This record gives sequence, structure tokens and C-alpha cells, in this order.
Amino acid sequence: MIIDNIRAQFPILDTEVHGHQLVYLDNAATTQKPQCVIDTLTDYYAHLNANIHRGAHHLAAEATERYEAVRRQVQQFIGARSHEEVVFTRGTTESINLVASSFARRYFTGDDEVIVSGMEHHSNIVPWQLAGAKLRPIPFSDDGALMLSAYEPLFNEKTRLVAVTHVSNTLGTINPIKEIIDIAHAHGVPVLIDGAQAVAHLKVDVQALGCDFYCFSGHKMYGPMGVGVMYGCQEMLDELPPYQGGGEMIEDVTFERTTYNHLPFKFEAGTPSVGDVLGLGKAIDFMQELGVDNIAAHESDLLAYATQQLMKLDGIRIFGTLPVLQKAAVLSFLVDDAHPYDVGTLLDQLGVAVRTGHHCTQPVMDRYGIPGTVRASFAVYNTKDEVDAFIAALEKIMVLLK
Ligand code: ALA
Repeated sequence: MIIDNIRAQFPILDTEVHGHQLVYLDNAATTQKPQCVIDTLTDYYAHLNANIHRGAHHLAAEATERYEAVRRQVQQFIGARSHEEVVFTRGTTESINLVASSFARRYFTGDDEVIVSGMEHHSNIVPWQLAGAKLRPIPFSDDGALMLSAYEPLFNEKTRLVAVTHVSNTLGTINPIKEIIDIAHAHGVPVLIDGAQAVAHLKVDVQALGCDFYCFSGHKMYGPMGVGVMYGCQEMLDELPPYQGGGEMIEDVTFERTTYNHLPFKFEAGTPSVGDVLGLGKAIDFMQELGVDNIAAHESDLLAYATQQLMKLDGIRIFGTLPVLQKAAVLSFLVDDAHPYDVGTLLDQLGVAVRTGHHCTQPVMDRYGIPGTVRASFAVYNTKDEVDAFIAALEKIMVLLK
């Protein structure tokens, strides 16, 4: 069984909460970190800390080499053609803001539209609005499937970009992004994929997908907070102006004029979070040792089991009801008329950690006419026993709420 020996690698899973063993089901918000990732961070600050790409000394050279090795590791992990297409950021949000800002300065004309899906996280909505775009959302049906028949009619001469999430953080839907990308390209429109909820659960190959940009965060895939990736295909990145100005992103600076560094450094101004990048590399090692397909299969089993057990309870309404194989590790629901926050707080009293609220997807809540949901989300270290504990806690709560 894949989870054998895995839980022991995550010290936080031993925590007691309000006198109960922690059942951590808030993995879509952030996953816990294995000891090997924690050790990588500690080792970096204990033995290697130096600023990269700058110093002539041993530590700077070693830290630079390790940092650049992770860039190549990410390249392999997502199937990019070149390590120069991998830009380190603080996370998905910064990655999307980077693209929105640079892309708008290069391509927007003042009357610009971006096609998104109706199930985007706010971080794939607001950056485009800040950049001046009008958004054209692809609707989705009650079960959480994008309505592709409504997608193609959204294109017109003002369409500059399609920006769509790979996996919905609220509904769990795995979107048919290959089809979405192919249709956009047939219209000559580039595509950005928000992969924040996908990389920990699915194998991603950016060349096979043919996307122009793919953005994700380290902390949702067993890595540290504060590091993420913006993949951009070289042709596109060559065309875009820098996002932030500062050290390292330049080639030559005078008071009259500045020229910019080559890829990927053009997009990495200032001192990066070196230790976190090394931690991300270790998280990729961790996932690859387990096998991404094995992780996906384990989570799929858990999702199927949890869905089945949840549906046995009276008064439960699930949001995102596609078959389990079209979903990734997320189970959103409401309990009768109870406010999701009350359910989440009572679950916490019994040691079960879930997320409640709109999950930074207010348009999804508006679509269903609800204030929020309770969301349980799974990772590789979760077990069927934990699902049972979660369901038992929910049953107790339902009695209290009656
Ligand atoms: N985007 C994260 C979530 O869905 C924080 O919880």
C-alpha cells in the first residue's frame, strides 16, 4: 500500500487538536511537508546560505549550482523544452500576476478580452481585471463540468488570451485543458493554465499540452510556502517585457537606458527564496519516488470512498458531482441548512481540519446561490481510517445541529 511508511515522514500528522488526533483534510489549501523537505530548509540555512548568481565565494557558487539544478529538475518534472522556460516566483498568484502584467503591456490595446472559466480562483480573475481586461467566463453545468459548447462562441477579435484552471479548487473538476488549448490555438490565442491544484495530483507535460503558460505553487505539492513556478514557452517569454525591475534581471544599466538579462533571469528580479527553491526540489524528489500515478490512484480511491460514505448521510448536498475519475481529491458539500463555518468549527473541535467559505471562488458560490461550502481535500498521506473519523465527526455534528 502506497501510504505505508509515508505518514511517519510527516511529523505534523502526529499532532493532537482539542484532545483528538489531527485529521488533516485541508490539503487543497496547503499540503503538509515531509521531513526531507523540512531538513532541506534547515540544512540550507545551517550550511549553505548565500546569495546566488553574485558572489565569488564557495558558498555562493554552491548555492547557485543547487538552485539552478532545481530549475532543471522542474523542467523535467513538467516536460518543458528548456530550463530557461522555468521562472521561479513566490507562488501561483505571483506567477499569474507576472503574466497578466507583462502580457497586457505587450499585447493589450485598450479593448481586450480574456476568456476564463466560471470556476476560476480569484487569483486567475483579479490580475486580468487589474490589467484592464474584460472577462468572458465559460459556464459550467450543475455537476461541475465546463460547457465546452459555450466556449468557442466567446472568441472574437478582442480575445487576447484564455486563462483556465486545470483543476477546480472548489469542485475538484479536472478540466479538459488539452481541448481548451487546441481550440484557443485554432483561433490564434495563447493559453495560460492555473495548475495550482493539479501538479500534486496529475502528471503534467507542458509540451504535450501545448500551453503557453503553466503556473503552480510549491506549497500545495509537499514543498515550502513562498516558492512557485511560472512556465512560459520560450517564444512567448522572449516577447514579454520584464515584470519587476531590480538586481539580476538586467544586462546593462545606465541612467539613460537599461537592457535586460536573458531568460529566465529577465523575470527574476531581486534575491530569490533560495532555500525554498531547494525545498521544492526535494518535494519533487518525494513525489517522484512515490510515483505521481500512484499518488493519483491512492487519492482517487479515497475520494471515491469519502464520496460514497458522505452520500449515505441525510441532508448532505455535494457540489462537484462528476464521476471520481474526472475529479481530483476535493469534496465540497453543505450539511442541511447549517452555515459551512459552523460545520467547519465543530469539525475542528473533533480534530478534523477542513476549509470552509467561498474558497476564493465567489463566482462559483454565486452560480449555486450559496454562501460557501465545507471542503475536505485529500493528499497522499490520508487514509480510509481518517475518512471514517471525518464521517463519524460529521454524524456527531449533525445531531448537534438538529
Ligand atoms: N487556493 C487555496 C485553497 O483553495 C488557498 O484553499
